[in-house]
Amino acid sequence: MLEYADVVAAHERVRETSRHTPLSYSHTFSAMTDAAVHLKLENAQRTGAFKIRGATNRIATLSAAEREAGVVTASAGNHAQGVALAATRAGVDSTIVMPENAPISKVRATENYGAEVVLSGVDYDAAADRAHEIEREEGRTYLHAFDDEDVMAGQGTIGLEILEDCPEVDTVVVPIGGGGLISGIATAIEGARPETRIVGVQAEGASSVAPSLAKGERVTLSGVDTMADGIATRTVGERTFEVIDSRVDEVVTVSDPEIAMAVVHLLERAKTLVEGAGAVPLAALLFDHIDLEPGETVVPVISGGNIDLNTLTTVIVRGLVETGRYLKIRTVLKDRPGALEDLLAIFTAYRANIFAIQHDRTSRDIGMSDTEVEIDLETRGNDHVTELLAAIEGRGYEVDVLV
Ligand SMILES: Cc1ncc(COP(=O)(O)O)c(C=O)c1O
Repeated sequence: MLEYADVVAAHERVRETSRHTPLSYSHTFSAMTDAAVHLKLENAQRTGAFKIRGATNRIATLSAAEREAGVVTASAGNHAQGVALAATRAGVDSTIVMPENAPISKVRATENYGAEVVLSGVDYDAAADRAHEIEREEGRTYLHAFDDEDVMAGQGTIGLEILEDCPEVDTVVVPIGGGGLISGIATAIEGARPETRIVGVQAEGASSVAPSLAKGERVTLSGVDTMADGIATRTVGERTFEVIDSRVDEVVTVSDPEIAMAVVHLLERAKTLVEGAGAVPLAALLFDHIDLEPGETVVPVISGGNIDLNTLTTVIVRGLVETGRYLKIRTVLKDRPGALEDLLAIFTAYRANIFAIQHDRTSRDIGMSDTEVEIDLETRGNDHVTELLAAIEGRGYEVDVLV
């Protein structure tokens, strides 16, 4: 099993290539949780996520012949970019297989870090099959994304940095996908400060660890469904499961709306852009999935910031809706001059700003002398929404809340 000394050895190897990322105290999140919250900002890592640590450590252990033959892996996510940059910095050739439908932005970013990208297969499993063929055909070394002790040890260097910057840490909270990140961090922390609690977090739609721990063996889910694509895995690794089983104190789950809210809070309050997987530790803290003593020192590992802009747009709108700052309603008016003005007077009185309005007489769902109106509004919180809806209904309008 992975040992503390492996992580310490990795620390020396990854220092040159990866950044010692900031540990940033957050007044806002500390006040929200009644704890002392320090964010470990791996979104500020090179390539935007922690993956370069494990890849650098694994590549450093290659023999001269293996270095010469190069490395190969399959990934459409952060591992691709981490391996590409780590290999380039070590002077090793890399091939990354991505599914054919991989976003062009990820393909370009990975190529820019110096890898050759091969597009193959309809999904990750098919891409991984092709990567293993290339491993055999070209004699390259396959770099697993998590179930490899050198990779785990590299990710564990985050734990050493946390202890260096915050030696009094009580609890470290870590996302779990395949389990490489938490295995390394738990090993580092247990080795140097065993009284610190390690909590793992999974998305509800991809939570294989709790049932695996209950059963005493790895459980593989039949499918996964979460916006946090970095942790959308059906099972953890064989090696990572062993470490999680013996060194992780608790594992909790968070829902997609909670993850989305954590992304929005990080953007709005901490001015920090984080992807879904990177926000799950904060989601677990903000939505009370972890018991905290008042004033406890807690470090959520914000593991990455590579969020797709379309996903970010959806997340922001959902976050505004959840917090009562965006409202979309539908109502029916009499089709006569001034009817719309009467309705708009209510928005003016309640200072709700209109983003968009659609006025439609042709809808089949309304009477011949009616008109249907859909309005998108900027509101000032859930209480404001409640007051506004009560005022509209109080004037005799029937309102459907669309979002
Ligand atoms: C941003 C981010 N966070 C967390 C994880 C989970 O890491 P692991 O698979 O080692 O558990 C990943 C994995 O890709 C990731 O990209």
